[in-house]
Order: sequence, then C-alpha cells, then structure tokens
Amino acid sequence: MHQIKTICVCGAGTMGMGIAQLCVQSGYKTLLYDINEDMLESSKVIIQGSWESLLVKEKISKEALIEFNNRLSYTSNINECKSDLVIEAIVEKATAKIDLFRQLTEINPINTLFVSNTSSISINLIAGKLEDPFRFAGMHFFNPATYMKLVEIVKADQTSDMLIKMLQEVASRMGKVAVICKDSPGFIVNRVARHYYLESLQLLEQGKADIETIDQVLEATGFKMGAFRLMDLIGIDINYAVSQHIWEGLGKPVRLKPSSIQDQKIILKKLGKKTGEGFYKYYK
Ligand SMILES: NC(=O)c1ccc[n+]([C@@H]2O[C@H](COP(=O)([O-])OP(=O)(O)OC[C@H]3O[C@@H](n4cnc5c(N)ncnc54)[C@H](O)[C@@H]3O)[C@@H](O)[C@H]2O)c1
Repeated sequence: MHQIKTICVCGAGTMGMGIAQLCVQSGYKTLLYDINEDMLESSKVIIQGSWESLLVKEKISKEALIEFNNRLSYTSNINECKSDLVIEAIVEKATAKIDLFRQLTEINPINTLFVSNTSSISINLIAGKLEDPFRFAGMHFFNPATYMKLVEIVKADQTSDMLIKMLQEVASRMGKVAVICKDSPGFIVNRVARHYYLESLQLLEQGKADIETIDQVLEATGFKMGAFRLMDLIGIDINYAVSQHIWEGLGKPVRLKPSSIQDQKIILKKLGKKTGEGFYKYYK
C-alpha cells in the first residue's frame, strides 16, 4: 500500500493552520499553502507561538521544536503543492474547491490522494467534477484541529476502500477518533449542531434573551462554549455558509433557515475571532 509521508494543507485560515500543525506534530513532512501571503504570515506566527508555549510548559523538548520547524514549510505558489496527501481547507465554496482540486490533480502524480475538510459541501458533488473520484474523500476535522478528538471521514460513492483505510491510519497516527460517515448535508455533527446555533439566533432575534444570557445558560448547562462564542470561534461566514448548504441540501425546511443576523455580521465584516469582532470583541 502506498505510504503517506508528505501532506500539503491548502488554506492557512482557522482550520488549515491547525491541521498543518497537527500533521507536523504527527510526524508528516508538511507544506502549508494559501493564495494570501498575509494569511501565511499570520499562521506562521500563531503556529510558532503555540510551539513556543508548549516548550515553556515543558510539553515538548527543544529538539522536538527544531524537528517541527524542519518538517513545516509555507508557500503561496501552487506549483510547489506536491505531496502524497492533500488536505483542502479553503473557503467553503464548491466552485473554489473543485477548481483547486483540478489544478492540484494536474500538478501531482497519479497516486496522490485528495481530501476536503468541508463542513457541508457534498463530497459526491466535488468527486463528480474530478478526473479520479476514487482518490477523493471528505476528512472533516473540528476546531481547534490540534485539540478536538473527532474526525469525520466521508465516503463518496466512488471513494476507494483503500483510501478510507489510509485515512483511518492517518487519523489514528494523529491521535484522532475517526468515524466513517455517509455523504449527506452536514454529515453528522454539523447537522445535529445546526439547532444549537439556529435556535440561539432565533431567541436573540425574537428578543427573548441577549447573547450573554444565552451563552451563560448553555455553558452552565455543561456545553464547553455557548452558541455565540462558538460561532465567533468558527467564523460567522463559515458557520453561515454551512447553514445555507445544509438548509438547501435538505430541501429548505423552515426549521433550518439560516439567520439574517449572521448575514448582517458578514456584510459588516464582523466574522468573529479572526477579524477581532463578531458577537463579542477580541483584542489581539
Ligand atoms: N472554522 C471552523 O470551525 C471549521 C471547522 C471544520 C471545518 N471547517 C471547514 O474548513 C474550511 C476552511 O474553513 P476556515 O474556517 O479555516 O476558513 P478561513 O476563512 O479561516 O480560511 C480560509 C483560507 O483559505 C484561503 N483561500 C481561499 N481560497 C483559496 C484558494 N483558492 N487557494 C488557496 N487558499 C485559499 C484564504 O486565503 C484563507 O486563508 C471550510 O471548508 C470549512 O467549512 C471549518
């Protein structure tokens, strides 16, 4: 069986930088690619900061830090994106993802494997636009990728069993719990979680409670993060796009209609932690 030694992570945003860090820590030679140089620069600062803090807490050694740095490189040149496995974590738009996979198929050898970290775009839809759909699957990490244990591995109709087996091995080497899911809108977690966000947004919209109260109640109940704090962490644009894909994919049921409150935040570019303000304000 073809062995995975090198991984190219595409997209250096909230998820891509965490996935790249995880790949390096799991022993893979990793390349982080983004079209935006500023995103690459800020991901470098954040990953480095995270490793420095692990060093200070004596969770990693100086030698490990040197090894991590040797295993990670960054690029904005797509022609350098050659690897055994490509993990795509770019913007949540089907056309952008399909376009990227097509370009990467041209650049890479025939045994390179491709996965998307999409939260909600149909894996079959992307697979149907690719030359070799059997080399493609969904591999959905959770935020923050270095910390959250679960990975949903999504099998498209034509995904090879060999690829699923290899992804299970990669996930296990990363210390993750992998669950194989069927391709359906939002897979498992995001579909179930929609109500957490949408009902909270409805409470707010109907004036029944404010943001802080809703979050306080949810956190006191035992959830790690209230819905608004969590939407800010995820990115309101991404969370809204996921809501839209699930709503459309399930035939637009009223109960899952995306909220105009999120739409307004996006217009104002208040996307959450990544822009410094969403439902809450953040100081960098
Ligand atoms: N945010 C989350 O909590 C979360 C969790 C699980 C999965 N996801 C999924 O991960 C993916 C990325 O989400 P994110 O939150 O990291 O987004 P983000 O907005 O933080 O980052 C997206 C990055 O992709 C880059 N990009 C856009 N188009 C590109 C292209 N054509 N080529 C290369 N880079 C490109 C952007 O410059 C940006 O740096 C989405 O598919 C999303 O659904 C997100």
